[in-house]
Amino acid sequence: MLRILKNPRLIWLVLAIPGIAMVAGFVRDPVTAFDLIHPSGEYSVRLMIVAMMISPLRAVLGRRSWLDWLLAHRRALGVAAFGYGALHLAFYLYDMGDWGMIAEEAVIFSIWTGYAAMLIFAAMAATSNAASQRMLKANWKRLQRLVYPAAVLIALHWLYVDGEWEAMLAHFVPLLVLEIIRVVLMLKRRSARRAKHAMVN
Ligand code: HEM
Repeated sequence: MLRILKNPRLIWLVLAIPGIAMVAGFVRDPVTAFDLIHPSGEYSVRLMIVAMMISPLRAVLGRRSWLDWLLAHRRALGVAAFGYGALHLAFYLYDMGDWGMIAEEAVIFSIWTGYAAMLIFAAMAATSNAASQRMLKANWKRLQRLVYPAAVLIALHWLYVDGEWEAMLAHFVPLLVLEIIRVVLMLKRRSARRAKHAMVN
């Protein structure tokens, strides 16, 4: 594979470009904050979905070089998903511009689901380093698995804030189908292993 594609700095830069463009647009004209809520939210959710698809794709397709490449950059994808979520929140807060109204909205289902997902993202991003992995041991994996409830919260947030379920489903159904296939394959492999074990004994 091209050496340049293995350069982590380049990956971080590519992931940051849309965010830099959004911030530049906002600095030029802060009134655009409302319009930027939509793309920043979509970037966040898309990066999260790509990061979540890597393991089920490997289970279904086996080892592929492009999947190994994605796996090697999964941390960057996850942190970028958090970054775009943070931008999304920042544009929302600026657009609202009134802490009283922000507090009032925070208890509405469509909005608190966003905050709850963001809390999970923040915990995952803060611990997505080797030192946290060593410190948390088995709990690190448990913490990473919180991405599944975060995905459910985001799907609900999207559905209730937007009301247009087609776009939400177009993003989440492929992931759901892959996860179902992964579980079916896992159960099949487990029962095949058990049958083999029973034959040996
Ligand atoms: C941190 C708390 C959050 C708040 C307060 C919040 C707020 C909002 C609001 C007000 C909208 C509607 C925007 C519009 O009318 O155009 C929205 C849409 C959306 N949000 Fe969030 N959000 C939060 C977290 C998140 C997170 C963490 C994600 C993704 C990982 C996300 C993804 C989306 C998506 C995909 C949309 C739909 C975009 C559209 O079609 O308009 N949000 N959010």
